[in-house]
Amino acid sequence: MIIAPSLLAADFSRLAKEAQRVSKSGADWLHLDIMDGHFVPNLSFGPAVVKAVRPFSKLFFDVHLMCSRPEILLEPFAKAGADEIIVHVELGEQVEPLIWKIKNLGKKIGLAVNPPTAITEAEPFLDKIDLLLVMTVNPGFGGQEFIHETLPKIQQAEAWRRERKLHYRISVDGGINNQTAAECARAGADTFVAGTSLFGQRSLKAAVTKMRKTVNGADPGLADLAI
Ligand code: DX5
Ligand code: ZN
Repeated sequence: MIIAPSLLAADFSRLAKEAQRVSKSGADWLHLDIMDGHFVPNLSFGPAVVKAVRPFSKLFFDVHLMCSRPEILLEPFAKAGADEIIVHVELGEQVEPLIWKIKNLGKKIGLAVNPPTAITEAEPFLDKIDLLLVMTVNPGFGGQEFIHETLPKIQQAEAWRRERKLHYRISVDGGINNQTAAECARAGADTFVAGTSLFGQRSLKAAVTKMRKTVNGADPGLADLAI
């Protein structure tokens, strides 16, 4: 189980310190949300900020591109220190060449699916990706409410992975707190992106520990073992 705090919910006036705080919290990854004001109606930060933060954390950098033209950003983010780059399946025929470009840059490949988009749109790419990101809110803003209708998509992603003996991670992003993380874990998710619910706690470390305990207890694999 991977816990990935989202830097979007951190204090932007001290991002380096916040990245250090995430490193010391026991979290596994740092999730970085890149918004272009076009694919989503908001702007966040670019490669220069990722590069500036990189020396302050040894964690795996999970870079989520909510951008209409990710092709111009892949190399800058790779150079800035991304370990994985996630692009959106809604980009249609751009997706296949984007996947190859990320692979050629030597980075892990993620594919994200928005709530209104059918999970079947991701099906042709399942054997080429390292992570499938099921968006559990409409992207663009932190602090939104989890959309429960996305749970069957997680179940479908898990069924495909099992049936086809694939190894991609199943990540969830948006409105993830201890309760919704447990629901996602039971549906088959193994990677949990959370902003508001983790940074909203006084102790990030305690919040990460609690979320890890919660999702480990809700793992469907463990439920099988108990039978
Ligand atoms: C949403 C972003 C998320 C966001 C999650 O557009 O992709 O990663 O940071 O924030 P919370 O956990 O506050 O919903
Ligand atoms: Zn994200």
